[in-house]
This record gives sequence, structure tokens and C-alpha cells, in this order.
Amino acid sequence: MNLDASHLLGYAEKYGTPLYIYDGNAILGQIHKLKSWFPIPEFRVHFAMKALTNRNVLKLVNSTGCGFDTVSIEEMQIALSSGVDPADVNFTPSGAEREEYLFAIEHGIGLHVDNLDMLEFIAKNKPGAEVILRFNPAIRAGGHHQLQVGDEDSKFGLNVRETEVIADYVRRLDVKVVGVHIHVGSDISTVEKYFEAFEFLLQKAHEFRKDLRYINFGGGYKVAYKPGDHETDMHELGRMVTERFIRFQETHHQPMQLIMEPGKFLVGQAGVFLTQATTVKHFRKRSIAYVNSGFNHLIRPMYYGAYHRIENLSRPGAEKDQYHIVGYLCETDTFSSNQEVAEIHPGDILAFYNAGAYCYMMASNYNSRVRPAEILVKDGKDYLIRRRETLQDMLATEVDAGI
Ligand SMILES: Cc1ncc(COP(=O)(O)O)c(C=O)c1O
Repeated sequence: MNLDASHLLGYAEKYGTPLYIYDGNAILGQIHKLKSWFPIPEFRVHFAMKALTNRNVLKLVNSTGCGFDTVSIEEMQIALSSGVDPADVNFTPSGAEREEYLFAIEHGIGLHVDNLDMLEFIAKNKPGAEVILRFNPAIRAGGHHQLQVGDEDSKFGLNVRETEVIADYVRRLDVKVVGVHIHVGSDISTVEKYFEAFEFLLQKAHEFRKDLRYINFGGGYKVAYKPGDHETDMHELGRMVTERFIRFQETHHQPMQLIMEPGKFLVGQAGVFLTQATTVKHFRKRSIAYVNSGFNHLIRPMYYGAYHRIENLSRPGAEKDQYHIVGYLCETDTFSSNQEVAEIHPGDILAFYNAGAYCYMMASNYNSRVRPAEILVKDGKDYLIRRRETLQDMLATEVDAGI
């Protein structure tokens, strides 16, 4: 995030709060870095668009040659309507409906398959279909336990203990395995865990090598949430994976693409969420600052304990104090406990950093509150990319049953 406090305050003034702001240049910078760390001609980045699906952002990402990873029929439709080539889109759902796969087949989208029922369905409906097998690597890693999806009993991926059964299905059914895929989890900071997972992936690639073209390493790369925080050493990971991938290709004499599916790494740090303080209460042991938002707009702290650094943009030089920063919802609604923030007064504008990934996307209308606006800033220019919701938007799907 390269936007300074005076710019952010200007946007709060112009567009109102609560407001999501994305720094387009920061997103482009992340893509550029990633490509430079994996200097493999066949390296491809597929943005895990569930992190942020605004089509203005998708177009920006796609303009650099990146494709998209999608998880629902709606995400596929959003991706296609952003103008991306369907060949650059993959579908990696968890327990999706058959109609969704039919849509993917019809539009030539890459089919990631994580269960044998769907493999049979695909073979029946599109004989000769090209599929990518998503394996469960049986590796537990990631940040909060809700972000760890790669362990043996998780719901994600084909069961690694059934590799023989899977191979049997592949032999019996009219499908072509053109790729293997894993996604271990999110917020994984240790390069060693990734490398262990990569070795697993290459093992599967070897076992299913006959028609293989894609080796997909998923996402989950951790970014820093505060100064000094752990993050995945992508430079080192890039070095190790590049070297290993080139060796693997040399022994297999087959052209293969290496694909990564980062979500948070591309857009997490490029986003900031602005709110306004509504009141401040001072108790004997703590001060509580209330803002004009809640977990209806930014659920990550309440959902899985995510940390968002908070800054009082209105009083940069003021003395700092420990605050509980809370939302306006009518239950526990805590954004942050005991965070050091410059003295807060009603009306001050507070910035929540690292708010680009899984923030707006998880927003809801709980307490019948409308969702915020989103803006994108690129080369110093600000663009409204989603207007603030209205009560009419919220009520549009309600049907008067005449009761
Ligand atoms: C299959 C898959 N790929 C990629 C990602 C992106 O993860 P992250 O945003 O942590 O990079 C996810 C996130 O849930 C995912 O499920």
C-alpha cells in the first residue's frame, strides 16, 4: 500500500466512509515480483479471485497476463464478463453442483476435480474431457486452524490414501488427466512446508504423467500484517521451486506449465478500509472506540482472529493509547483488542490496513446495514469501482407475499 494519510483522508472526504480503497500499482507490483521470483518460461499466475472479485481489479490483473482461479458458477461468470480468455480460467470448487461443472465444460474452463463422483459425471457428460486432479496433500499447515485445509481428514481434495483407486477410475473412465493440483491452506509462512508440499505434488505429477501439462501449486502465501511479522520468503521459495521444477522437467521430457493461485499475496496489502469513529468510552482499564462499521463489513478479526493494523489518520502526531476498536453490531463485534493507536476522538478517520483480500468479499447486510463503496487508485487517479449499496438494493430481492 503506497497511499499516504493525506490521500486516504481525501478519499474519505470525497466518497464517505466506510470505504474500501485498493492501490492498483501495489497489485501490479506484487504480480511483477512474483514473476521475477519464479523465472520459468512456463510459469503462470492465476489470481484466486475469491479474494476480490471486482471486475475493475480483475481487468487490471488480467492485463498483466494472469488468469483466474474460480470456485463457483458466479465467479466463472464474473471472470468471463471481465473479458478474460476462458482458457486462462480454472474452476476449483469444493463440492460444487453438477450444473456448475457443465457450465465450466461448455465454456472451456479448466476443470479441477476433487471427488470421484464428479470425475464419473464429467466422463459421462464429456467423454475425453481434460481434467486436473486436486489432491489432498495430507499436510497440516497455515495460520488460524480454519485456514488449514490440507490435512488428511479435511474436506478438500482427493484422498491421497486412495491414489490407487483414483488411478483405477482414470483408467476405466474416458477422461484425460492433464494436471495435478494442491492447495495446502492460507497464511503458511514456512518455506519448508511448501517445499514438502511441492515434492508431494511432483510425486503425483509423476504418477499421472501420461498426458500431464499443468502442475498447480495453489496459493496461501503469507503476507506481513504488521512491522516485523512473519511472511513467506517468496524469494527463497521461488529459488527452490524453480530449481526443482526445471530438474523435474528435464527428467520427464514433457512441456509443463507451473501454475500458482495466490489470492492474499496479490491484493491483501493493496487494500485499506476506512471507517469513522462515532464515540469513545473511557473505562478504568481500557478505552473503547466505536466506528461506523462492524463485522458485517470486515469479518476477518471475528471469524479467524485476523490482525489488521489500525491507524488514526486524523491525528498523526497525537500521543498513542491502547484501544479496543469495536463495531456497531449488536453482539460482540471487536476489530482489535488493545491496539496502540493515536488518541481517538469522535469523527476521526481510522484506517484498517491489509484489507484487500477476503474483506469486502465477506461483507454482508447483517443488522440491515448497506455494504461500503470500493475505489481503485492507479497512477495517482482514483476511480469509483462500486458505489455504496442502498436500502433499495438490499430490499430488491424481497418479495411481498401479500400476507
Ligand atoms: C484452491 C485455492 N487456491 C488458492 C487460494 C488462495 O489462497 P490465498 O489467498 O491464501 O493465497 C485458495 C483460498 O482459499 C483456494 O481455496
